[in-house]
Amino acid sequence: MEQRKDIIILGIESSCDDTSAAVIRNGVLLSNVTASQAVHEAYGGVVPELASRAHQQNVVPVVDQALKRAGVDKEALSAVAFTRGPGLMGSLLVGVSFAKGFARALDIPLIDVNHLQGHVLAHFIKEDENDHDQPSFPFLCLLVSGGNSQIILVKAYNDMEVLGQTIDDAAGEAIDKCSKVMGLGYPGGPVIDRLARQGNPLAYTFARPHIAGYDYSFSGLKTSFLYSLRDWLKEDPDFIAHHKEDLAASLEHTIVDILMRKLRQAAKDTGIRQVAVAGGVSANNGLRNAFREHAAKYGWHIFIPKFSYTTDNAAMIAITGYFKYLDKDFCPIDLSAYSRVTLK
Ligand code: KG4
Repeated sequence: MEQRKDIIILGIESSCDDTSAAVIRNGVLLSNVTASQAVHEAYGGVVPELASRAHQQNVVPVVDQALKRAGVDKEALSAVAFTRGPGLMGSLLVGVSFAKGFARALDIPLIDVNHLQGHVLAHFIKEDENDHDQPSFPFLCLLVSGGNSQIILVKAYNDMEVLGQTIDDAAGEAIDKCSKVMGLGYPGGPVIDRLARQGNPLAYTFARPHIAGYDYSFSGLKTSFLYSLRDWLKEDPDFIAHHKEDLAASLEHTIVDILMRKLRQAAKDTGIRQVAVAGGVSANNGLRNAFREHAAKYGWHIFIPKFSYTTDNAAMIAITGYFKYLDKDFCPIDLSAYSRVTLK
């Protein structure tokens, strides 16, 4: 009888400021190595040229470590999967070029991955053979990151429909900008999260959007936060220092409420009770708690990613590559990166 050959995928992620490589065997994660770039902290945001240069330095050692930790020889790889986009072009090019060269040298297929699809499919990463807590199709996924806020109807691994998305800023972007005006540094998400745990979520109210359907908007909230803060600072120059916990808690509460309202509506309208969350903002404790409350109140079966799969990581690229490999969905060597794209 013919023996089933292992399918071993190397995933590479370099869309923003994390260089990451992961190895997945038959859908089970063997390694996931990420080099983050502290160089941007001094600038209050990611500097594209510096990110690109850091990827250049990191990509070879990160891939080397991922293979070593997985105990996999490069000759055993079945394919190389890479993030094609969306992301910063200079950053993407490093991962794309490396993946092409590596796949060509090993004479194995190359698989392009949409970063957003990767975030959604992170819910299918198995850490061992007995890891079975995964959504079944169809399910809803709230994808919230620095660049996206979307409600996605996931019909299959390769069939996703965006039901709604932000018409201006993303949720993470709004959090980062508000935290910046409070002088809390970059990225603001983790700091706001920490402060919010000690504050009163109902201390202040900010403008909420009135947008039809499942679309989001966060730019009005950001402006409302900015103008309110400006007025309060006129009265008390130390307002931020005195009230940062309440400000963070109220901001987080407003954003989570905006996100959950539309998601609740989508769950109600579609009748789907399996609901997942993905992307960098899914690390937020207020949002995670809101998911748990909805599970208890509305009978949702919820899927919340481990913290290591909320931010950019190559494990999600490798698992997406695995499913595309099963479909023999390979890409040509002359494929170029794309900086902007939505889900296909
Ligand atoms: O998915 P991601 O790592 O990068 C992309 O945008 O693709 O998301 C980054 C975003 C940033 O806006 C960051 O502030 C936010 O996720 N974030 C958080 C938390 N951790 C990261 N937002 C709220 N609470 C957190 N704990």
